[in-house]
Amino acid sequence: MIDAMLHEDHVATLDIINKLEVRIGNGKWDRRLEPSVPSDRLLLEALIAMMDSEVRHHLPFEEKELFPKLDDFGFEDVTGMLFDEHEAIRSLIASLRPLSDAALAGGFREDSWKAFHGFLADLAGLVIFHIQKEEMGIISRLRMLLGPDECQEMASTYTALLSKSR
Ligand SMILES: [Fe+2]
Ligand SMILES: [Fe+2]
Repeated sequence: MIDAMLHEDHVATLDIINKLEVRIGNGKWDRRLEPSVPSDRLLLEALIAMMDSEVRHHLPFEEKELFPKLDDFGFEDVTGMLFDEHEAIRSLIASLRPLSDAALAGGFREDSWKAFHGFLADLAGLVIFHIQKEEMGIISRLRMLLGPDECQEMASTYTALLSKSR
């Protein structure tokens, strides 16, 4: 069912943010990652995979398939706000993605690290807030709103989208 699939995406995204927070957060998100250290490299690769998955699958699916169905139930104000947050998330990812690639290739310098952890802290705050809203406002009542058949159909659509772009 689509509610479970989107929920799994949300949990996976929160998981990588949480791991990064534990590693570099310390309340300030500024303890430098060292991509030459294997565990840091894995974290950076997981962050890149998460950003790619958001931009390629999760956000477009919600915008093209989910939000229009919710609008039929009078959710335009909610989906409009969520769409604006998607745009802000995409814009932060557009800044963070090249910095992450460069770090994988050659590590961080002081200036690139400062830019990276600034964007990462902003992205983390925005994404956590956004997921909370979607989980509480939409995912928790999606099956009741759309019904099980529609939820199953959307799950098939999302599965097809995921397999096409992998
Ligand atoms: Fe979203
Ligand atoms: Fe979402």
